[in-house]
This record gives sequence, C-alpha cells and structure tokens, in this order.
Amino acid sequence: PTPSQLFQPLTLSQLTLPNRIVIAPMCQYSAQEGNANDWHLMHYGSLAVSGAGMLVLEATAVSAVGRITDADLGIYSADNQQALARLMGSLRKLSDIPVAIQLAHAGRKASSHLPWEGAAQIAPDAPRGWVAQAPSAIAHGAGEVPPAEMTPAELAEVKDAFVAAAKAADALGIDGIEIHMAHGYLLHEFLSPLSNTRSDAYGGSLENRLRYPLEVFAAVRAAVPAAKPVWVRISASDWAPGGWDIDGSIALAQGLKALGCSAIHVSSGGLSTAQQIPVQPGYQVGFAEAIKQATGLTTMAVGLVTEPAQAEHIVASGQADAVAIGRAALYDPRWPWHAAASLGAQVDAPRQYWRSQPR
Ligand code: FNR
Repeated sequence: PTPSQLFQPLTLSQLTLPNRIVIAPMCQYSAQEGNANDWHLMHYGSLAVSGAGMLVLEATAVSAVGRITDADLGIYSADNQQALARLMGSLRKLSDIPVAIQLAHAGRKASSHLPWEGAAQIAPDAPRGWVAQAPSAIAHGAGEVPPAEMTPAELAEVKDAFVAAAKAADALGIDGIEIHMAHGYLLHEFLSPLSNTRSDAYGGSLENRLRYPLEVFAAVRAAVPAAKPVWVRISASDWAPGGWDIDGSIALAQGLKALGCSAIHVSSGGLSTAQQIPVQPGYQVGFAEAIKQATGLTTMAVGLVTEPAQAEHIVASGQADAVAIGRAALYDPRWPWHAAASLGAQVDAPRQYWRSQPR
C-alpha cells in the first residue's frame, strides 16, 4: 500500500511539522483580562498530545480593543505574556508538537457578549463595552452601534501592536505566527468592499483594499527571524453579493507570497450577515485548491474535514498541503492519532501512553 500522504512531514520556512494535520485555532473565551489560565492548560495540553503536526493557539488579541469579547486571550500586556509563558512552559513539557499562535484584531466585531451568552454586540457605553475600530464606520449587524473609522495614526498603532505581539510570541518560543485575516475581523474588513468604503489609499480599488493587510503582514514578517514561519488565515469568500471573493483572495495570496508568506490557511465567511454558505463536508477545500493552483503557495484547507480518508484525499490529491481540524478535534482530541491508526501511519504518542500506541 502507498504510505499515507497526510502523515508525511511538511516544512514551513524552517519549521518542520511531523505530519499535515493542524489543530485549527479555536477561541475559548475563557481568559481574564486576556490572561491564559488553567482552562487553556487543560485544553491545549490535551491537544498537544493529540498527535497532530501542529497546534495553533486561538485568536489572540494584539490589543484590548481588538478583542471579540472581554474573555478573549491576549498578548498585549506583560501579564498576558507571563500567562502565555506559563502555558508554553507546560506544553513544552508535555510534547514536542510545534505550537503556533493566531494573532488577531476583532475590528468591528469587538465588544461582544460571549457566544454562549448570545454573542450580541455590547454597546460602547454599556458595562463591559467599548468602541470598536474598523476601516469604515459600518456596523456588522443591523441595529448595532457602528465602529469608529480608523485614523492614519490608529492604522500605524494597530500595525505596531501586531508587530509587538509577533515579537512577544517569538520571545515566548512560539514556533509560528498565523495572522488572522478571516471571519470578518479587522484585516478581512479592509479587504471586503462591504466593510471598507474608505476614500484614502486603503479603500476603493482592490489594490487599495489589499494595502493595509499586506503592510501588516510585511511588518510582522520583518519582526521575527526568517527561520520562523509567518502565514495568514483568510476568508476566501464573503458568500454575499458584492463581497470579497476568490479572485481577490488569489490576488492577496500573490501579494503575500511576494512578501515571503510561508503558507495560506483558507477559510471563508464571517463578514456579512447576508452570507449564504453551502455548508457540506469539505466545503472550503475548493478555495484552498484554487489558491494553491494559482499561486503555488503552501496551503492549509479547513472546514468540515472530519474523516481520516477525507483528509488523506485532500493532501494526496494535491488540493492542499495540510488540513486543519477544528470541531472534530474538540469532539475527539486524539483525532490525529486515530487517523494514523486508520491510515496505517504512526504518531508520537506520549510515552506514558506507550501501551496504547496504534500498531
Ligand atoms: C472557531 N474558529 C476559529 N477560527 C479562527 O480563525 N480563529 C479562532 O479563534 C476561531 N475560534 C473558533 C472557536 C470554536 C469553538 C470553533 C468551533 C471554531 C473556526 C475554526 O478554526 C474552523 O475554521 C471551523 O470550525 C471549521 O473547521 P471544522 O470545525 O469544521 O473542522
């Protein structure tokens, strides 16, 4: 039998993943003042021994204003960085898994209730609320208070916050950086004509809408050693009329590639309340494939990849170079291990579990 392609190593810059299964970034909404705590240690500890090729820590805010909720993980304060240092120290003792972090700014989707509280916007003047920052003063949802349009000085500040966050992540020994440009958060908001109506150099034409996300990428790329991979997660489509689409995504990917981007992680949606998403198994994989074909960039596919044979097919057929697993890894934290067993491959299980190694 041909060996599993899913379980071949993959190198991003100079980081080698032992296999092509990535644990997708998943917000836990469980931090206090942005600080990781015992929940994160349990959650990421469990995923660190999953057998995956890489673990991506959840969307981590580069500023307090850039949090979706007041329980988001952060990397903007000394306390945040200390809490992450503790988490990383523990993860390193548990496993050799490469650990990346997703750096994020929520843009106009900031100042929200927790998902299990309904996720509605918290008005800026209500308790726990604040004024959100965005490319344009256009609210995400009907009846919401619009965000404040970012000034040139704020554009520079937020870019600096991404750079400071990347340097902090590097100093914490985190192995890779994923910049969040997906799901209707700040950098995606610059890309989409539905959320960006600026009249300066950062709005209007596609070239202008790409400008700020590319500037942030370039600044982050320059802030960490070249050996360390820096990549981007995008929404390849808004799934809404007049919205961001696959052609724009290919243009973005070309721009990112020229700036030394290590990979592109291809999701979709999250920007428009008018989105109509044809949800089905692997529904976003075609976007990853189109971007890979057009640009040759290393590509991660994500979205309802739940079966080992499905993941194997995506990689073996060249639709993507890696697959990210989200909910299936919450449901079954040993998903990669079970996939190895079913595909005739091996993962590094903790030595404490030596009697359970799939053979
Ligand atoms: C997510 N997702 C997500 N995406 C992202 O880019 N950053 C994030 O922090 C989060 N947070 C998050 C939390 C939870 C609880 C879920 C379920 C999802 C999206 C996630 O990474 C993934 O793209 C989707 O869940 C689709 O993949 P699956 O779950 O079908 O494998």
